[in-house]
Amino acid sequence: MNIYSKITGVGAYVPPLTVQNADLEKILDTTNEWIVQRTGIERRHWVAAEVSTSDLAFHAAQEAITNSGINKSELDMIIFATLSPDHDFPGTGCFLQAKLDVPGIPAIDIRQQCTGFIYGLSMADNFIRSGQYKNVLVVGAEIHSKGLNKTPSGRDVSVLFGDGAGAVVVSRADVKDAKKDSFIIRNDLHADGSFAKELWIAAPGNAFTGTERLTKEMLDEGLHYPKMNGKAVFTHAVKRMAETLSHTLSESGFTFQDVDLFLFHQANLRINDKVAEIAGIPQDKIFNTIQEYGNTTAATLPLGMRDAIKAGKLKPGMVVAMAAFGSGFTWASSVLRF
Ligand code: ACO
Repeated sequence: MNIYSKITGVGAYVPPLTVQNADLEKILDTTNEWIVQRTGIERRHWVAAEVSTSDLAFHAAQEAITNSGINKSELDMIIFATLSPDHDFPGTGCFLQAKLDVPGIPAIDIRQQCTGFIYGLSMADNFIRSGQYKNVLVVGAEIHSKGLNKTPSGRDVSVLFGDGAGAVVVSRADVKDAKKDSFIIRNDLHADGSFAKELWIAAPGNAFTGTERLTKEMLDEGLHYPKMNGKAVFTHAVKRMAETLSHTLSESGFTFQDVDLFLFHQANLRINDKVAEIAGIPQDKIFNTIQEYGNTTAATLPLGMRDAIKAGKLKPGMVVAMAAFGSGFTWASSVLRF
C-alpha cells in the first residue's frame, strides 16, 4: 500500500451581487458584444463593501470541510492562495484560521496568482505523501472588484475579473489499486520571472527608489491597478497550458483521450478553445465557467470543480486534468483520479 493524497471535499462561494456586462457598459466605455466576443465573459460577481477575502474563503472552506466528512479539528494545515489578500500582512490564511476557529495549525499564504490553486494542491499532496499531515485545506479566494480601475482607462483589465472563493480538503489516501483508486497522480509546476511585469501590480512596493512603499504620486499614476500585456499573456498561456498538460499526462501514463474531464483556468474562453484545438480535446470534455464568473484567479479551479460536481460532470472515479497559467509568469497542471 502506498501513501498518496486525494481530494475528499470541495466547496465554493461567490458573493450574491451579479454584475452583468451591461452594467459595465455604463462605467467603462465598453460593450457587451466586445466582452463576449473577445473573452466569453457574460457576468461576474462583486462583493459588498464590508466583505473581505477571508470572508469569501470562510464560506467555501466550511462547505469543503462538510463535504469531506471530517471534523474541522482534524485539519492539519491551511494553504491559502490569493493575490488579493485582506491585508499586506499577516497572510489571509491566518485570518481564515481564526474565522474557522482551528487554532494552532499552520496557515501558509502563497502568491502564484492564477496558478495558485495547483501550486497549493501540489504542496498539500507533498505534505501528505511525506507522512507529516493527514488533512490539508487548500483555498483559493479573490476580491478583484476592490482593486480594479473602474474608469474607461482601466477597461482592458477591469472587464475580465470577478470575485469568488473555492476550497478543497486534501486527505491521505491509502492506494491499493493505482488503476482504480482516487488519488492525486501528478503535478507539474513552472515559473518564468523574466515575464513578471507583463501582468502585475507595481505598487505598493519596495522596488521603487524612495523611502515609502506607497506615495500619492503612485496613486495618481494608477500604479496600484493591475497592468497587463494582453497579447503576450494570451500567446504564452496557450503554449504553456498545452505543454504542461501534455507533460503531466505522459508522466502519468495517460493520453489526452484517457481523461474524462479537463478543468482549465478561466482567463479567456479563446485561450481554452485554442488549447483544446492544439491538444485535440473535444469541447464536451472541458468544463468552462468564465461566462458566469469572469476570471477569479486562484479561486477558479475549485469553483469550477464545485460547479462541475453540481452539473453532474465531475464524478468519483473520473480521471481529471487541470491546467492554469497566470502572472509571474507561472503555469502548472495536475492529473488526478477524483
Ligand atoms: N471594451 C471595448 N474595447 C476595448 C476593451 C474593452 N473592455 N479593452 C480594449 N479595447 C479595445 C482596445 O482599446 C483596442 O482598440 P483599438 O483597436 O482602437 O486600439 C481594441 O479593443 C483591441 O484591443 P486589444 O488589446 O488588441 O484586444 P485583444 O484582441 O488582444 O483582446 C484581451 C484583449 C481580451 C485582453 C486579450 O488580449 C486576452 O485575452 N489576453 C489574455 C489575457 C487575459 O485573459 N488575462 C486575464 C488575466 S491573466 C490570467 O488569468 C492568465
